[in-house]
Amino acid sequence: MQNFKIIILGPGGVGKSALTQRFISGNFIEAYDPTIEDCYLKTVKYKNKEYKLEILDTAGTDQFTSLRDVYINSGDAFVVVYSIDSISSFNDIQSIIDQICTIKESDPSPLIIVGNKCDLDEDREISEEMGEMLANSSRCSFIETSAKLDLNIKEIFYDLLSQLINK
Ligand code: GTP
Ligand code: MG
Repeated sequence: MQNFKIIILGPGGVGKSALTQRFISGNFIEAYDPTIEDCYLKTVKYKNKEYKLEILDTAGTDQFTSLRDVYINSGDAFVVVYSIDSISSFNDIQSIIDQICTIKESDPSPLIIVGNKCDLDEDREISEEMGEMLANSSRCSFIETSAKLDLNIKEIFYDLLSQLINK
């Protein structure tokens, strides 16, 4: 069985752990408990084949960002998350994407930008078009999700798998 390591990156509070938990266990976590580092294993079936995914849910808090180089080096594919109700979270992901591109320069890695909390449409600060434009300029995928409503969560990982397999 093929193994892939997927790294979840993004600023604090955007829902990295909520979407990881939704994918792993199917539950939504309402309480906010900042992450230090959590690792999960999940076997998924995609196009009639099984793959083992190792998913690393990282800390958004600034005091741990020095670890980011280490995480990026070890990853096969990346999920970079912002929250659609926070322009500052959207502005913060550009430097994360740049860091991934710098480290993986000779071997561009599958990457998907995720605009999470799309259920909070009344508080929206980032339009879907802005997310799409950033993804186009970074030559990667884009999807809006809601961990709360279980919208497009599996699709994040299927998109990365299709990029990994067709690499
Ligand atoms: P750090 O671990 O500190 O980096 O944060 P995180 O990105 O892991 O955020 P977390 O998943 O802990 O979610 C932060 C808060 O946002 C929690 O209270 C979640 O319940 C809430 N949240 C996460 N996803 C969604 C969503 O899709 N919709 C809504 N409305 N709230 C969400
Ligand atoms: Mg977290």
